[in-house]
Amino acid sequence: MKIIKVESYDQLSKTAAEMVIEKVRREPKTVLGLATGGTPVGLYKELVKDHQNGGTSYKEVSSFNLDEYVGLSGDDPNSYRYFMDEHLFNHVDISKENTHVPLGNTEDHQQHCQDYENLLKERGGVDLQILGIGPNGHIGFNEPGTSFQSETQVVELMDSTREANARFFNSIDEVPTHAISMGIATIMRSKEIILMVSGETKREALAQLLNGEVNENFPASILKNHPNVTVIADKDAVGE
Ligand code: PGA
Repeated sequence: MKIIKVESYDQLSKTAAEMVIEKVRREPKTVLGLATGGTPVGLYKELVKDHQNGGTSYKEVSSFNLDEYVGLSGDDPNSYRYFMDEHLFNHVDISKENTHVPLGNTEDHQQHCQDYENLLKERGGVDLQILGIGPNGHIGFNEPGTSFQSETQVVELMDSTREANARFFNSIDEVPTHAISMGIATIMRSKEIILMVSGETKREALAQLLNGEVNENFPASILKNHPNVTVIADKDAVGE
């Protein structure tokens, strides 16, 4: 793992954006793996700014998101489809049909998970995956204990994850209990990964990632076995 330490959240967003922009310019048909949550918001702002001022085009880019809440449709403001439209897709020239976010409201979640995994394989897999990390070490919504062999599946969210994400909802009762998430094996098949770590609430997770063992009880630890991971961490996450 390559580690880049930066001063601020702003720098973290800009550093990640430079890597994504460089990739898309070099390989216009790049398949991006995208993440939601608080951490990548600044990255998406930078990509939109660069698209508007620098002209980077996403016409031929396709994307696959990591996860979606079970029970929410794409027009629910708390869905990750809605998040992606609002923060990125509506503001760049990506073709919506090339953007893939798992569907949280299908009749058959298991079948949808398989279809999602198959489609991703058909498209040649993710070239560049953006990841955040949960305070408990989750990547995507793969909570501690998830098999390193897992592929896209329905997962149950831990109470601590629902509490951490309650800030986006009116109350914790509204936070879904389940999600569809790319698996850990799915994520590990990405050719390149950028892990963004920001803020004091991630300090312990970052320390565990850097110093701990590779273990299914800390899902992000598997990234140590990937040949092309860049961790970008801001000062608040790094600490002293
Ligand atoms: P956050 O979420 O970016 O909202 O902190 C990261 C994660 O839980 O993976």
